[in-house]
Amino acid sequence: MEISLALLLVLVAISDIIHLVQAQSQPGFISLDCGLPANEPSPYSESKTGLRFSSDSKFIQTGEIGRIQTNLENPLKPYTTLRYFPEGTRNCYNLPVDKGRKYLIKAWFRYGNYDGHDIKPMFDLYIGPNLWATVDMQNLDGNSTSEEILHVPSSDSLQICLVKNEGTTPFISSLELRPLGNNSYITQFGSLKLVSRGYYTTSKNYIRYPDDAYDRLWSRLSPSSSLTYISTTSDVSDGGNYNIPKAVGQKAAIPTNASLSLLIQWTPESSNDQYYVYLHLAEIQDLQANETREFSVFLDGNRLSDPIIPKKFEITSMQSLNPRTCGGEECSLKLTRTQRSTLPPLLNAFEIYRVIQFMQPETNETEVVALKSIQDTYKLIRINWQGDPCVPQHLMWDNLTCSNTTISRPPRVTSLNLSSIGLTGTIAAAIQNLTQLEKLDLSNNNLTGEVPKFLGNITPLLFMIARFHRNLSGNDLNGSIPQSLQSKGIELLLHGNPRLCQTKSCTKPQSKDFPVVIVATAASVIILIAVLVLVFVLVFRKKNQYTAMQALQMPPNMPAVVNIENANSHEPLNEIKRRMFTYSEVIKMTNNFQNSLGKGGFGMVYHGFVNGSKQVAVKVLSQSSTQGYKEFKAEVDLLLRVHHTNLVTLVGYSYEGDHLALIYEFLTNGDLKQHLTGKRSRPIINWSSRLGIALEAALGLEYLHMGCTPPMVHRDVKTANILLDDNFKAKLADFGLSRSFQSGIGYQDSTAIAGTPGYLDPEYNHLGRLGEKSDVYSFGIVLLEMITNQPVISQTSENSHITKWVSSKLICGDIIEIMDPNLRKDYDSNSAWRAVELAMSCANPSYSKRPSMSQVINELKECIMCENSRLSNNQGLESRAINIGLDSSVVPKAR
Ligand SMILES: *[C@@H]1O[C@H](CO)[C@@H](O)[C@H](O)[C@H]1NC(C)=O
Ligand SMILES: *[C@@H]1O[C@H](CO)[C@@H](O)[C@H](O)[C@H]1NC(C)=O
Ligand SMILES: *[C@@H]1O[C@H](CO)[C@@H](O)[C@H](O)[C@H]1NC(C)=O
Ligand SMILES: *[C@@H]1O[C@H](CO)[C@@H](O)[C@H](O)[C@H]1NC(C)=O
Ligand SMILES: *[C@@H]1O[C@H](CO)[C@@H](O)[C@H](O)[C@H]1NC(C)=O
Ligand SMILES: *[C@@H]1O[C@H](CO)[C@@H](O)[C@H](O)[C@H]1NC(C)=O
Ligand SMILES: *[C@@H]1O[C@H](CO)[C@@H](O)[C@H](O)[C@H]1NC(C)=O
Ligand SMILES: *[C@@H]1O[C@H](CO)[C@@H](O)[C@H](O)[C@H]1NC(C)=O
Ligand SMILES: *[C@@H]1O[C@H](CO)[C@@H](O)[C@H](O)[C@H]1NC(C)=O
Repeated sequence: MEISLALLLVLVAISDIIHLVQAQSQPGFISLDCGLPANEPSPYSESKTGLRFSSDSKFIQTGEIGRIQTNLENPLKPYTTLRYFPEGTRNCYNLPVDKGRKYLIKAWFRYGNYDGHDIKPMFDLYIGPNLWATVDMQNLDGNSTSEEILHVPSSDSLQICLVKNEGTTPFISSLELRPLGNNSYITQFGSLKLVSRGYYTTSKNYIRYPDDAYDRLWSRLSPSSSLTYISTTSDVSDGGNYNIPKAVGQKAAIPTNASLSLLIQWTPESSNDQYYVYLHLAEIQDLQANETREFSVFLDGNRLSDPIIPKKFEITSMQSLNPRTCGGEECSLKLTRTQRSTLPPLLNAFEIYRVIQFMQPETNETEVVALKSIQDTYKLIRINWQGDPCVPQHLMWDNLTCSNTTISRPPRVTSLNLSSIGLTGTIAAAIQNLTQLEKLDLSNNNLTGEVPKFLGNITPLLFMIARFHRNLSGNDLNGSIPQSLQSKGIELLLHGNPRLCQTKSCTKPQSKDFPVVIVATAASVIILIAVLVLVFVLVFRKKNQYTAMQALQMPPNMPAVVNIENANSHEPLNEIKRRMFTYSEVIKMTNNFQNSLGKGGFGMVYHGFVNGSKQVAVKVLSQSSTQGYKEFKAEVDLLLRVHHTNLVTLVGYSYEGDHLALIYEFLTNGDLKQHLTGKRSRPIINWSSRLGIALEAALGLEYLHMGCTPPMVHRDVKTANILLDDNFKAKLADFGLSRSFQSGIGYQDSTAIAGTPGYLDPEYNHLGRLGEKSDVYSFGIVLLEMITNQPVISQTSENSHITKWVSSKLICGDIIEIMDPNLRKDYDSNSAWRAVELAMSCANPSYSKRPSMSQVINELKECIMCENSRLSNNQGLESRAINIGLDSSVVPKAR
């Protein structure tokens, strides 16, 4: 039995409708007569169905009006006019719907040679970003077709788009939406595209509204000689959820040869197609006492149900609970009577739908609304600002870009460029709802008013993955620059706004015209020059006598000085974009978490590879960690503000449901603690390198204290958190410890104190006071460890804390007693003394007496200079250098 022509037959016979009715309530119906001329009444009642059709002009801004050549055909009025779309690739209707409600959506296309070209078009039909159907009129026998789908909109606005394909002009005759009940056509997933719906009748008439409350169109199935058509005039009720019209239930077919099956066949478009089949049946014959009608339903030989006995004059709808795939080239549904049945199977009507999974998530609804609002605010006319802004990718709106998406992550707008298009008025408030906007360019317009705060509202997670750019230059903005926009990581261009407050009392705008000038003190200039000279000397000598480690150690002094500038300037974030990884990528990169590197701030850290080669350290939030999420957020919060050569770089992150992971660069030389305790089978780090490492760690800390807004406190500075890369360049790690995080032992009962015993500022410990000088204290302890290589808290010695140990040795005034014996006296003692003194002043129990990190840095540079001048003067004659130190009368007194 051929059913694919059923709909066509109906459309050809469209004027044969018999049900003349009065308009009645059509709750939630949307009936659009596309292209209804403005001078015709709208809405109007279609005379045969009573459906109230209105003009489509309120729901679409584009397209032109056409009318079919009525001499050819005589359809219902709504199908005589049409809207066609010569301009733009995608044109969309925007319909108000109830989110989450199931709709029957019908689109009708009647060509009728409206354009006189007699070329039947072919184009695509989309729901939002997803392809619904290809309307191919070229391979159609008739002049009209329709598409139907059962679909649950995911937002309150439904976009139905006609998209050019093959260059012919898309058009549409009518668009009809009918809300359905909740309990019918239930699917596990996806929407249902109509393949066929028909009823068994000998009449040429089709049935739709008002007989069918949902306005489903029941067409006559092609007559078949092997069937016997039966009907009744008795009332046939439908007690089920499908609300099948009485007129459909009153008709049925049975195989003429009672021993044969009733067969329905159709050809799938692809062998993977999944179908839902609905059979509607009611017994409409009078059965004798000794007669039984019972049958089973088979799809491709597989029985779909228990034997069915149709109820007398009551419609039962048989639905498939699961989508079905047809095995072969053809799908065949068979109704076969059971052995005890005396009568052949019976069927009144059926429906077949194909599952369409709309895989492409729509752009975040809030953002779509925001873009529309921006469009309205500025009266932007953009032919392609229709349909989903971001997807499908080839139809993305002009002047914006979007994030790439996965099924679970709807696309978001990441850049918007509205420069030089004569925008007037203030900066549109709706921009704040584009919460993931990395780049915003509103330059060279005529915008007035203040610079809104929200341009700097950026969520922490986002800061990890992107760089931010706000270009407001060349407008007429006034007022001052909000604090939120002065954050690190936002590149802000404001030049060419003459009325914008640029005086010192206002916060200083950052722009290309006014680069931030780094004011260096005379002393630091001298140091810079000295260091540069030394670097040259050393680089030059490196070829000759210094070990690889020394040679590699020195160059960081150069970037170190440059970094001081970085810390104070508004350098944009690293060029490397921080990537978002899926959890499965994390599993892959760590080879299923095989190689553990240890335990970090809020979970285990694993070794891994990105792109097969780049080594990374992957910190995974432990599932059991109740504090974990907070700590993760804290780390993220910090990461958003930091980018510094002496802080460990974040490569990316993964944030999928319960699975949180941060992916850092992997530093091949491990942490400083391992080196000092000799756990690494490497030569002990020499004095010069230790000073360099100390300086770099200090620069990282200073950046946190001074270079970030608001300032950050590391709170867990210790040798284990100073990592070394393959050039022994030091980078601070594990920053952003949250208040709740506890590390080490002994502080289980405290929720406020964070940090590691021994490194913990005694004032903070006692008073719970937190400030950057708490880090200075910890840094002092680190420095003492680097100098002495003594345990921070000794289990054996009575002078249990390292500061006490050093103090006790200072009384003797012998630097050799204090210094790590592993250094084998290979250091400039002047330099060593200065370092000890510095370390002890950092570790001063009194918060206020400790130096700032900037002072620490200056002092460390002095230490390095002492040591370096020894190295350059003495060409490796260590013993002499030591002697000079010992003889010196200018040995400072350690405080
Ligand atoms: C379709 O339209 C053409 C003219 O474009 C006409 O010749 C033909 O008869 C129409 N077909 C039907 C089935 O109405
Ligand atoms: C359909 O279900 C939704 C939620 O599941 C509910 O809010 C709505 O009221 C239901 N509608 C009807 C007609 O039952
Ligand atoms: C009905 O079908 C059966 C099986 O194909 C066949 O044997 C029988 O002759 C048919 N009866 C009639 C009346 O055609
Ligand atoms: C049912 O009974 C009627 C008489 O009451 C008889 O004519 C008919 O053949 C019987 N049908 C079957 C299938 O036994
Ligand atoms: C859309 O974006 C808003 C604002 O960022 C957010 O609150 C909302 O959860 C997002 N919706 C979805 C479905 O992701
Ligand atoms: C916006 O898009 C249009 C069309 O693609 C293009 O001509 C124009 O240059 C774009 N404007 C900006 C500022 O990118
Ligand atoms: C998004 O995906 C496309 C194609 O898959 C790729 O060309 C593009 O670079 C991606 N964009 C981002 C930001 O990852
Ligand atoms: C701003 O408006 C003035 C006229 O009001 C116009 O001459 C000028 O070109 C506009 N500037 C921009 C950048 O659109
Ligand atoms: C931003 O979105 C929210 C919720 O979607 C909405 O209530 C609010 O009005 C929007 N704000 C602006 C300025 O458009």
